[in-house]
Amino acid sequence: MPLDIPPGRDYIVSMLAPTVKLSVAQIAAYHAQGYLALDPITTPEELAKLRAIYDQLFEARAGREEGNHFDLAGTDEEGKAPALPQILAPSKYAPELLQTLLRANCDAIAAQLCGPECIWRFDHAINKPPRSGAATPWHQDEAYWGDDTVYDFALSIWIPFQDVNQHNGCMQFIPGSHRLEVLPHHPINNDPRIHGLELDAGAADVSHPAICPLPAGGCTIHPTRTLHYTAPNLSDAPRRAYILIYHTEPRKLANPRNFYWNHTKHPAREDRAAAAEKAKQFAKAV
Ligand code: NI
Repeated sequence: MPLDIPPGRDYIVSMLAPTVKLSVAQIAAYHAQGYLALDPITTPEELAKLRAIYDQLFEARAGREEGNHFDLAGTDEEGKAPALPQILAPSKYAPELLQTLLRANCDAIAAQLCGPECIWRFDHAINKPPRSGAATPWHQDEAYWGDDTVYDFALSIWIPFQDVNQHNGCMQFIPGSHRLEVLPHHPINNDPRIHGLELDAGAADVSHPAICPLPAGGCTIHPTRTLHYTAPNLSDAPRRAYILIYHTEPRKLANPRNFYWNHTKHPAREDRAAAAEKAKQFAKAV
């Protein structure tokens, strides 16, 4: 049975002393440019354990029935190899992912950048298969979120579990784009069956990205509106990325925005999630 892990800080992590202390210059650069890249925030030993857990989760397609495992860049039919497999909330299926020095350091980074109210809320994982033709197209993370909810601070910490460069899908950012509003997006290929979103052509100038190669266990950090992209994985190994999301308490907008691209989208994962929820309610009722 998957565990329901409440967001926030847990006892085990609070016992681990973080080892990352950002400099004043790093904090200033994050707020000025809308991204930051850091050297490894975990140990090689911990990274090896995390990589094994990660591979087992994707091998088992953890969360498939609940709609938490799906193809981010494809139509997600059963029996079809996913172009870009993603797992939402992998720590629900392997809580040990979050009982780590990595997590303690991510908590410390979020607090140093955005204050102690900016706490861990959610995790996900995107595993680019070897020799995969799928890019993760340019997008702002906030385009996936609710029209009516905003956060004073929200950020994603993106951690590759192997070295990354532009040939296997490292992060690329548009410096300064965190100051933009949420721009128009559409489902990849304009196919409403696909979960992944793509920035509309011409909505922003993405011709001069900052490319962020990283060693295994390093990380990039970006707030919700920074435009970002990862290229296809041209290497012979999987490109494993693990992502932790932090934000302050949500605030409801009096005048909601209109993220129309989410209103017509209907990926298969939503049907699986609805069926799983119905089964859970039924089990509770009998
Ligand atoms: Ni993203």
